[in-house]
Amino acid sequence: MFENRLFIETYGCQMNFSDSEIVASILSSEGYSLVNDPHQASLILINTCSIREKAEERVWKRLRELKSLKKKNPELKIGIIGCMAERLYEELLFAGHGVDLVAGPDAYRFLPELLSNTLQGAQAANIQLSFEETYEDIEPLRLDPSGVSAFISIMRGCENFCAYCVVPLTRGKERSRHPETILNEARNLFQRGYPEITLLGQNVNSYYFKNAHLSMNFSDLLAKVAEIHPSLRVRFTTSHPKDLSDKLISTIASYPNICKSVHLAVQSGSDAILKRMNRKYTRNEFLDRVRSIRKMIPESTISTDIIAGFCGETEEDHRQTLSLMEEVGFDSAFMFRYSERPGTLAARKYPDDVPSEVKARRLQEIIDLQHWHSLRSNRQDIGKTFEVLVEGSSKRSRAMLSGRNSQNKMVVFEPKKATRGQYVRVRITGCTQATLIGEEMEDDL
Ligand code: SAH
Ligand code: SF4
Ligand code: F3S
Repeated sequence: MFENRLFIETYGCQMNFSDSEIVASILSSEGYSLVNDPHQASLILINTCSIREKAEERVWKRLRELKSLKKKNPELKIGIIGCMAERLYEELLFAGHGVDLVAGPDAYRFLPELLSNTLQGAQAANIQLSFEETYEDIEPLRLDPSGVSAFISIMRGCENFCAYCVVPLTRGKERSRHPETILNEARNLFQRGYPEITLLGQNVNSYYFKNAHLSMNFSDLLAKVAEIHPSLRVRFTTSHPKDLSDKLISTIASYPNICKSVHLAVQSGSDAILKRMNRKYTRNEFLDRVRSIRKMIPESTISTDIIAGFCGETEEDHRQTLSLMEEVGFDSAFMFRYSERPGTLAARKYPDDVPSEVKARRLQEIIDLQHWHSLRSNRQDIGKTFEVLVEGSSKRSRAMLSGRNSQNKMVVFEPKKATRGQYVRVRITGCTQATLIGEEMEDDL
């Protein structure tokens, strides 16, 4: 009844969202059409994340819910793709879970073949990681309904092997896409009406493409993307502090359409912990990168990621994190409690020895301090006017519009003439810790 109807659900990072668009593109060439309701689907794919234990628990729960749909529709196939597929394929294929297909992040080209192998009721799996796969020739099928902002994966994998992190195990070797394919995709998106693109990689600063004819690093690529058109907004994520060069910072500074927000994950403020995490920079080196950003791009925001309670973290190490936060005053942050991931260096080498309640308390202290800093940063914007790219209605109130400014802050405002996909000038009149609130200025841009 529901032949060739695909429902795809995505968990995890932006790279997974971007991968779902590649998967949707591959399967639509095979005659699949996308549906928004799993009850209408002949194939359900869950694109999964392994970054923390909780991320995996969420998927197991969802899988139990979706499995029950098979009773009503015995033809339904369920596939698990993404990082958890890579890490846990054996467990996932256990018959009781109702999974028909498992495909790792580098195996999406084989999905049609895997699907045909499941037709007789067999299970199919491919979790082979690749040294070359970048899907650069596949035009993603855009799943974001707003049509305002699109992701472009510029590289895959990660070889930094931060001690806590599962990504190098689930995503494999780092590889960069041919720059021409990236530029073509960006031009194409702009021509189709996308005013904003985000270049994606686990560590975009180490993007490097080289063949017999050309070589290109990230700051050159970023400049070329920005040159496509002055009204194409360009974002990128995420930067690793060890590879953030002054050259890149000056490129960000010199193009008005490259957004003035740098996401620079610090993880900890303690040198001992940074070393154990294998982050390859010290507290001072991180602070030096922050100083460079502040000097060359004074209007830029800086956001970060912080982990509370990594192996062996003492009260003094924790205080170092709080004091680094004080010193930098991050505009926003993603904050996590350490979650041990099997197979990582930390899981093999260091005991997960910070008690759960201590992790929780430290995380709360970090969150409380960050909320105060976020609020302070937002308050400083009251009275300023920003150019905002309208993304759609505000989540809280349909009557309000929302969008982001170049600094990546969410701005909510009452519309006068503005519509989705437009740039408008908004004067900030108030704020919360998470959002700027303002009024649309009537003067046209
Ligand atoms: N490549 C990015 C990070 C991707 S993962 C970077 O290096 O900036 C996003 C964030 O999840 C990390 O920055 C880290 O703060 C957090 N994280 C990763 N592994 C974790 C773990 N095992 N426990 C808790 N948080 C983790
Ligand atoms: Fe994980 Fe570190 Fe790679 Fe980021 S840079 S994905 S934290 S290993
Ligand atoms: Fe999660 Fe994999 Fe991204 S582990 S954070 S989906 S790279």
